[in-house]
Amino acid sequence: MMAPRFWTALCALTFGSAALAAPQLTPRATDSLDTWLESEVPFAREGILDNIGSDGAYAKSSKSGIVIASPSTSNPDYYYTWTRDSALVVKTLVDLFKNGDTDLLTVIEEYINSQAYIQTISNPSGGLSSGGLGEPKFNVDETSYTGSWGRPQRDGPALRATALIAFGQWLIDGGYESTAADIVWPIVRNDLSYVAQYWNSSGYDLWEEVNGESFFTTAVQHRALVEGSKFASQVGSSCSYCDSQAPQILCFLQSYWTGSYTLANFGSSRTGKDANTILGSIHTFDPEAGCDDTTFQPCSARALANHKVVTDSFRSIYTVNSGKSAGQAVAVGRYPEDSYYNGNPWYLCTMAAAELLYDALYQWDKAGTLTISSVSLNFFKDLYSSAATGTYSSSSATYSSIVSAVKTYADGYMSIAEQYAYTNGSMSEQFSKSDGTPESARDLTWSYAALLTANMRRNSVVPPPWGETSASIVPGQCSATSATGTYSTATNTNWPSTLTGGSGSTTTGGTTSSKTTTTSKTTTTTGSCTTPTSVAVTFNVIATTAYGENVKLAGSIAALGSWDTSNAIALSADKYTSSNHLWYVTKSLPAGQVIEYKYIRVESDGTVEWESDPNRSYTVPAACATTAVTVSDNWR
Ligand SMILES: *[C@@H]1O[C@H](CO)[C@@H](O)[C@H](O)[C@H]1NC(C)=O
Ligand SMILES: *[C@@H]1O[C@H](CO)[C@@H](O)[C@H](O)[C@H]1NC(C)=O
Ligand SMILES: *[C@@H]1O[C@H](CO)[C@@H](O)[C@H](O)[C@H]1NC(C)=O
Repeated sequence: MMAPRFWTALCALTFGSAALAAPQLTPRATDSLDTWLESEVPFAREGILDNIGSDGAYAKSSKSGIVIASPSTSNPDYYYTWTRDSALVVKTLVDLFKNGDTDLLTVIEEYINSQAYIQTISNPSGGLSSGGLGEPKFNVDETSYTGSWGRPQRDGPALRATALIAFGQWLIDGGYESTAADIVWPIVRNDLSYVAQYWNSSGYDLWEEVNGESFFTTAVQHRALVEGSKFASQVGSSCSYCDSQAPQILCFLQSYWTGSYTLANFGSSRTGKDANTILGSIHTFDPEAGCDDTTFQPCSARALANHKVVTDSFRSIYTVNSGKSAGQAVAVGRYPEDSYYNGNPWYLCTMAAAELLYDALYQWDKAGTLTISSVSLNFFKDLYSSAATGTYSSSSATYSSIVSAVKTYADGYMSIAEQYAYTNGSMSEQFSKSDGTPESARDLTWSYAALLTANMRRNSVVPPPWGETSASIVPGQCSATSATGTYSTATNTNWPSTLTGGSGSTTTGGTTSSKTTTTSKTTTTTGSCTTPTSVAVTFNVIATTAYGENVKLAGSIAALGSWDTSNAIALSADKYTSSNHLWYVTKSLPAGQVIEYKYIRVESDGTVEWESDPNRSYTVPAACATTAVTVSDNWR
């Protein structure tokens, strides 16, 4: 964000009585990351809801469904609603909702209603059909912000389309096609029309500073048009302008690759090393995609090489990073040349560095292999000094060592967020590069969304695919193009009262499964958010079997037979087809429980074949309102 840079030292502490000045509880450094996340996850969820009008504790004077960037009204004043921040935050809420956090339904509906209106507000960027959708921010009373600003910003409409499509998909899966068509699609169509028309025009980047072309913007625009086209057909419409422009956006996206890292912007004299590019990869992560370079997927050689270059650029410039050599997690800022608030690390950038690695871990596990190329070699060498180019199967020792090092590395970034968050859980926008003190806007809504998405990925809870697998082929020739879509005011905000969070399907682990009901509801309550005591974990394993063979799950805890094969859990083959060798079982397991497990193959005569080493390991999520998750494995 860009804001007036009048920094007043407001952080002088006032000590009252001795009792009030008593030191905080145990230093957090002694808490494990798991322990911190257990309390931070519900805190972050609440932190988001507090910043949404008009019920949110800090957003009472905002209109219903309006997401404020932060409650801070001065130094800096972030008490506005940004299209980008709001969309990223609501996408996170939609993903939580689809994973069982049904209480979020109303706030999602209110956000969608607010956007139907916001789209119509004539503003300095234009009107609904004349460029106004690129306006970056609005006043919280849903009036136009008319001060000077870096406008337009062309990622907002794309991100809003993505957030709305995610919810629209839930409606369709639950049998509410007409609601998706009547309420959601008209808003999405305007945003897709904007993207198709303006993707090839310059604008301001996500940090609102560079007027040019930005990797993050281009990447999210491509994604929006790809999923937009599919959504259009699902609601009985079509999007020819999506279909004509998406390949050209992908073509243009390739030009950001420098050969060794991803350039953040065209139109700036900086090095172009910028967390913009890491955010671009995590917000276009598709759990069904391979490690595609063309879409800069998290496990792609490009994204990993870039992860190293970007994170390394902050090692020597922040005191809080001193002594941390390559391969050790560091505090990450926006870009090394940053001078806003003197240029500090940001929580959301630091956690994005973790999230990209969790995404990559998911993709490697799904593929059952990991490839080191000459492009990504230096990334791997930092974590595993004997790394060499090649493809490593998940049964190899090299694979296990690397995966375990990457997990540790990713957790390291989350631990930095933990270390510098307030002890009460609050996360502002930045923390001081000198001593880690929180700085700039307090309780930044996006910081909380970043915590929640990183935590989901850490637990292998992934968003639904957006169609990358059919949209990753780059045209032979790039062209400067544009297409005209349809703009019309979205007027229907009449949600059916029968909608409940209980219907529809939940999408986790990259597979869609019918919603599983948990046996035990909730017992722990933190704020208004509930943490389930048990979670319905669906284990999917792709295992090729012959007639008469069975697949079972054996594991370290009693519920999984304590490694005794005679007490192992039988998997079902009733979804096994010649093209999808799926065995699965859903087991209710204690939230937070760490398990080790393996699949076993049992012959008709009772002979048992174990999977190869190492043991698989999984931590059942203990996350706010996460009641059902899916783990997807391939037989080893
Ligand atoms: C428009 O697209 C062409 C072809 O990809 C590219 O060379 C050019 O830089 C783009 N311009 C903008 C402003 O996006
Ligand atoms: C957390 O603690 C900080 C520092 O004491 C304080 O400024 C902030 O208001 C607290 N946040 C919440 C949500 O209580
Ligand atoms: C897997 O777990 C079992 C039971 O704890 C243990 O005996 C075995 O050594 C483990 N395998 C590996 C490769 O760590």
